[in-house]
Amino acid sequence: MSNENTSIHDFEIKLICEYYSLLERQGPGSPEVTKKALSFVDKLTEHSKIADLGCGTGGQTMVLAQNAPGTVTGLDLFPKFIDLFNQNAQKLNLQDRVTGMVGSMDKLPFQQESLDLIWSEGAIYNIGFETGLKTWKPFLKKGGYVAVSEASWFTNERPEEIDAFWQDAYPGIDTIPGNMQKMQDSGYIPIASFILPEDCWIDHFYKPQVRAEKIFLNKNAGNKTAIDFIANQKHETELYYKYKKFYGYAFYIGKKI
Ligand SMILES: C[S@@+](CC[C@H](N)C(=O)[O-])C[C@H]1O[C@@H](n2cnc3c(N)ncnc32)[C@H](O)[C@@H]1O
Repeated sequence: MSNENTSIHDFEIKLICEYYSLLERQGPGSPEVTKKALSFVDKLTEHSKIADLGCGTGGQTMVLAQNAPGTVTGLDLFPKFIDLFNQNAQKLNLQDRVTGMVGSMDKLPFQQESLDLIWSEGAIYNIGFETGLKTWKPFLKKGGYVAVSEASWFTNERPEEIDAFWQDAYPGIDTIPGNMQKMQDSGYIPIASFILPEDCWIDHFYKPQVRAEKIFLNKNAGNKTAIDFIANQKHETELYYKYKKFYGYAFYIGKKI
């Protein structure tokens, strides 16, 4: 039974990877927002070491590398994403400074106190905001920075439908002051936080999915798991349009003391 469950799970993961591989980004964000978050980070040099955790196919990593000196290692759990990541680095002639590797953000393959900057867009939720910040801190040099984007509540109260959706999808979701407090409690100076504009969701994440959905459903015609997955994506998109006053992504930038 457990083998059967594992293979169903593997099958789902394979389909989800296939779907997200059709997209330049696997989460909300934009080049402008990546550059804005980077503007809060001081003192990077050509010797700086940067890690992008949960990098996906590297949409934001390439922007980071084009706007910051030093070397960037992208880390992601899924080999298919890392293959695409390395192809993207090559296409942009960044392969000497940007390398993708397969690995998990809860077991970092770096030396302690070796990194100047840890970046992570829309991925820290995989291990939880506070756990991520605490787990990653030993790998940063003193005075090094962390910059992460995370789904966040904008208000203290919100309609029941959207509250229930997030309590099921990610019960760790918190307000912006709540996350800033967690950053401080984890041993960082909270340097800045800002809300990602709506175009990060609409133009850079949801609109590109219209084309991806068509390709994916054509390729997986009649596959119930694929059809259900796309129905879920659509439901999530509708909820965003309906409740975007109440939640979105925020960037959090902190400095290790
Ligand atoms: C929502 S996507 C964001 C991807 C990318 N940063 C972006 O903004 O387009 C989350 C990423 O986290 C990766 N991921 C999930 N669990 C992980 C883990 N334990 N370690 C590393 N990456 C992980 C997924 O494969 C996926 O690429």
